Amino acid sequence: MIVLGIESTCDETGASIVENGKRILSNVVASSADLHERYGGVFPELACRRHIDAILPVVDQAIAEANISPEQIDLIAVAKGPGLVGALLIGMNAAKGLAIAWNKPLIGVNHIEAHLYASMMGAEEPFLFPALGIVLSGGHTLLLKILEIGRYEPIGTTVDDALGEAFDKVASMLSLPYPGGPQVEKLALNGNPRAFPLSAGKVKRNPLDFSFSGLKTNVLYSIKGQNGRGEAQLTESQKADLAASFQETALKDIVDKAALALQTFPGQSIFLGGGVCNNRRLRALFAERFPALPIFWPPFNLSLDNAAMIAGLGYHKFLASGSLGDPLDLEVQTRIPIA
Ligand code: KG4
Ligand code: ZN
Repeated sequence: MIVLGIESTCDETGASIVENGKRILSNVVASSADLHERYGGVFPELACRRHIDAILPVVDQAIAEANISPEQIDLIAVAKGPGLVGALLIGMNAAKGLAIAWNKPLIGVNHIEAHLYASMMGAEEPFLFPALGIVLSGGHTLLLKILEIGRYEPIGTTVDDALGEAFDKVASMLSLPYPGGPQVEKLALNGNPRAFPLSAGKVKRNPLDFSFSGLKTNVLYSIKGQNGRGEAQLTESQKADLAASFQETALKDIVDKAALALQTFPGQSIFLGGGVCNNRRLRALFAERFPALPIFWPPFNLSLDNAAMIAGLGYHKFLASGSLGDPLDLEVQTRIPIA
């Protein structure tokens, strides 16, 4: 079964052709990150304008690179949310137009669930469930119990910033360009992770929830003094130390809470997804802490937003669904729980 996936939840316009949920025939991503760099974060209207320009060329390119014709497509899968409303509407309306023009079924897919599915795409089955699922992206920080593909129980989330967002904000405080996660990781390579005593937030209501806003403020105070207004006076090597200290504190918090989560149910494996999974220090920390558990990471090209994970998950959702109904009835949802 050949699926065209379409992704436009944030600042990446993606289209991909995937066969039977796994075999990626093409995976095209056009990013508008260059437009957002000067703002230190995604500027929604600029992202939308770029999506409008990019969406059809990206779909055309995905079809051409897969070396298929539109007639061979069996299903269109689109990321229906969560995400920026304008951005979602552009992908959704393109998908609806194509579904009608080509007379194909259309299915809406949860972007967060697709991030998790990315770690399953390249992996050998059968998977061992229940498993611990962890989504670490620019918009989401989630711990989940995975009962099977499509059945999840959320067990922890962030009460303020997402992990990727915290990386981006710290990068901006250190005058590093957007998107900041990879820049902080690079700078941290030369730093001492114990140089600055920082700590991640604890959430009383649920020990499996995350809080990064206090950590972020501590980074700001380390740069600009206690009132947050002083001049930046850190040397280059102190900046590297601060990047390393922040990264180590934030990532250790994820690993600690993953360990805590695994005390609450007998998780047989760990699946991770989302842009922060590209961080090599994160991968090393998980390997150290859980040497006996199978850990599934998304391939590096499927960690960040992409349409292959949308097409892949769309295939499973289609097989599990009854009738899909009229494609025009599908709506975007800026906020959707994963389960
Ligand atoms: O999953 P994603 O592409 O988009 C969302 O759905 O949000 O994740 C993007 C996020 C950004 O915040 C980016 O800074 C972060 O992932 N990120 C990283 C790294 N690569 C990307 N954070 C830490 N280390 C990295 N190497
Ligand atoms: Zn994402």
